[in-house]
Amino acid sequence: MANCVVLGMQWGDEGKGKIVDLITPSFDAVARYQGGPNAGHTVHVKGKKIILHLIPSGILHKNKLCLIGNGVVFNPKSFLNEMEQLREFGVENFDNIVISKNAHLILPYHFEIESLIEERMGDNKIGTTLRGIGPAYVDKMNRCGVKVGDFLNEKVLKEKIELNVAEKNDYLIHFGKARLDADAIFREFLDYASQIKRHIKDVSYLLYDKMREGCSVLFEGAQGTLLDIDHGTYPFVTASNPTIGGVCTGLGISPYDIDAVFGVSKAYNTRVGAGPFPTEIQGETGNYLREKGSEFGATTGRPRRCGWYDAVAAAYAVRINGIKKIILTKADVLDGLEELKICEGYRYKGGLFPSFPTEKWILEKVEAQYRTVKGWKEPIDGFQDFASLPQAFKDYIANIEELIQAEVAIISTGKDRHETIFRDEKLEGLVNLEAVKDEQFVDQI
Ligand code: IMP
Repeated sequence: MANCVVLGMQWGDEGKGKIVDLITPSFDAVARYQGGPNAGHTVHVKGKKIILHLIPSGILHKNKLCLIGNGVVFNPKSFLNEMEQLREFGVENFDNIVISKNAHLILPYHFEIESLIEERMGDNKIGTTLRGIGPAYVDKMNRCGVKVGDFLNEKVLKEKIELNVAEKNDYLIHFGKARLDADAIFREFLDYASQIKRHIKDVSYLLYDKMREGCSVLFEGAQGTLLDIDHGTYPFVTASNPTIGGVCTGLGISPYDIDAVFGVSKAYNTRVGAGPFPTEIQGETGNYLREKGSEFGATTGRPRRCGWYDAVAAAYAVRINGIKKIILTKADVLDGLEELKICEGYRYKGGLFPSFPTEKWILEKVEAQYRTVKGWKEPIDGFQDFASLPQAFKDYIANIEELIQAEVAIISTGKDRHETIFRDEKLEGLVNLEAVKDEQFVDQI
């Protein structure tokens, strides 16, 4: 079968967790390529809600290799907590989890530095998840990061932690924060090392080997295109590349190993944290979407800002990532609205933008130009068949497809696995639908 990427087309929270879990039976391995425990991938299985932050959602299925790539920033404490949570759900096959020796570690000083920076930025703060993500990537780029592979060499681990803590203490103390204890951090991490060692491998080589044997891989993105450090709405972005290039650099694979890119997009838009949001809806309708769509952060619990579908931003995600197939999620949240708006252009200083501008000062000033379409009264939640959907919903999809020049191939109409519409003819065999639709497929819960 094909190797496919599933990545977010908006500001994260597109519902990638459900999709990855859903189509995993079609693949042999699931690989995370960027981000860290800032992600919150929510999966509903057999009436249970599971939120995964670091471990690929493939872990819920038996015999699927779950890989964490070098592009991920890894917090061993949250990883172990996540394993514990999974154990309570009856998941056992942790031997299937492999972590790249080249992934960078998140250490306690990263949290301290991040909250200090956010505090000092005042009104200009990014509104990060405070999971130490940005500072861990800063150290990686600054070439002083501590790697997961350093868990395999006690001496190196100790030296690196001591050097970093000395450096970071100067900074923290300068701003009136408490001094960190290098030895305590080293001992804590030595304990993590003993628990995690058996999962550490060369993920790039393993993937190469597996793909050569004929295994198919699902590359799992976290966050979304508009949060990309290079292509997103900088500075209100995360510190990694959720976009397509991140797959190759974050796993050490060749672009020729990728057969298709699925873009996941909610049927409307949301954003957590600060930053411009041209289609944001203030007031009643915004609140309606937030409540109906349970739009509260999976990692931080923060209420998400809600807005109309932004086809300008979605077309940008299609272009940047080479997306041909869209997975539209949470369509049912729009049930019952009289009319819906789709943003088809950004008006700025009398003209229309030909492409999505990433500049903060432009995005803050653009005026969204909308196409208004009819809503549908009859609820579509739980629908599994495209033909029986209300015409107004089909028209909504046709409008999106026309504006962003990509096909909607899968539609999610509810949180559970079976609440999904597969447009088989649009999927062109990229996903093994027989395996996916088989209610009996083996999972661990
Ligand atoms: P960081 O990734 O914690 O550095 O946060 C940077 C920005 O990305 C903030 O606006 C966060 O709210 C946002 N962000 C990070 N991870 C996610 C996610 O998984 N979903 C939605 N927003 C996210």
